[in-house]
Amino acid sequence: MISLRGAIIGGTIALAYAGGAFAQEAPDRAAALAAWDDIHTVVSHPRCTNCHVGPAGVPLWEGLGHEEAGDQAPVHGMNILADESRIGAETMPCRTCHISAASENNVPHAPPMIADAWRLPPIEMAWKGKTSAEICVQLRDPDSNGAFTPEDLSDHLRTSAFVAWGFDPGAGREAAPGSIPEMQEALAIWVAGGTPCAGDPHP
Ligand code: HEC
Ligand code: HEC
Repeated sequence: MISLRGAIIGGTIALAYAGGAFAQEAPDRAAALAAWDDIHTVVSHPRCTNCHVGPAGVPLWEGLGHEEAGDQAPVHGMNILADESRIGAETMPCRTCHISAASENNVPHAPPMIADAWRLPPIEMAWKGKTSAEICVQLRDPDSNGAFTPEDLSDHLRTSAFVAWGFDPGAGREAAPGSIPEMQEALAIWVAGGTPCAGDPHP
C-alpha cells in the first residue's frame, strides 16, 4: 500500500536518482532499513569505533592484532586517555605521536597521521558498545548526535580527514567497508525513506 507520504518520497527519489540504479524502484521503509544496515556495517567497523567511544575517553586498538582472549576490545596501549578535552590535553596530547600532517601511513603499527588534529569525537557521537538500532536513533536526531543534520552528516563524510583515513588507513590495516560515495548514497536512501530504525512503531 502506497501512502501519500510514500508517494511524495518516491517522487523525490525518482528525481534524485533519475537514470541511476534506483530510478525504477521507489524506496520504501524496507529499502531505507536496508540502507541503514549498510551504514551500520561502516559505523560499527573498528576503523571508526576505535575513536567513536564513550565517556571514558579511552581509544581502542581493535582489529590491529592486539586482541587477547575474551570479548573485551583491546584498549589503546600506553594508558592513553583522551579525557574531557578529547585530545589528551590533560595528560599526553594525541599529537605527541599522531602528528597533524598528511602521511602515507605506510609503516605498520606506527601511529596513524592525518592532516587534522587526531582526537576523539565528542561523547554524544559514541557508537562503540551500542546496538545498530541505538546508533540509528542517535544519528537521525540532531539533538542526540552533536547537532549534525542529515545534510551535515553527508558533508562530514565528504570532507572529514578522519573518514577519508578510515576508508584508506594504509599500513596493512583493514579499511572500513565500501567507499565514501557508497556511504553517502546509503545515507540519502535512508533519509529519503524517513530515517527509519529497527524497533520504530510501524507508520
Ligand atoms: C581519529 C578519530 C576518528 C576516527 C578514526 C573516525 N572519526 Fe568520526 N569523528 C571524529 C571527530 C573528532 C568527530 C567530531 C567532528 C569533528 O571534529 O570533525 C567525528 C564525527 C563524525 C561524524 C559526525 C556525526 C556524529 O554524530 O557522529 C560522523 C558521521 C563520523 N564521524 C563518521 C566516521 C566514520 C564513518 C568513520 C570511519 C570510517 C570515522 N568517523 C572515524 C573522529 C574520528
Ligand atoms: C605515545 C604515543 C601515542 C599517543 C600519545 C597516542 N597514540 Fe594513538 N596510537 C599510537 C600507536 C603506536 C598506534 C598504532 C597501534 C597499532 O597499529 O598497533 C595508535 C593507534 C591509535 C588508534 C587506532 C587506529 C586504528 O587503526 O584503528 C586510535 C583510535 C588512537 N591511536 C587514538 C589516540 C588518541 C585519541 C590519542 C590521544 C588521546 C592517542 N591515540 C595518543 C600511539 C599513540
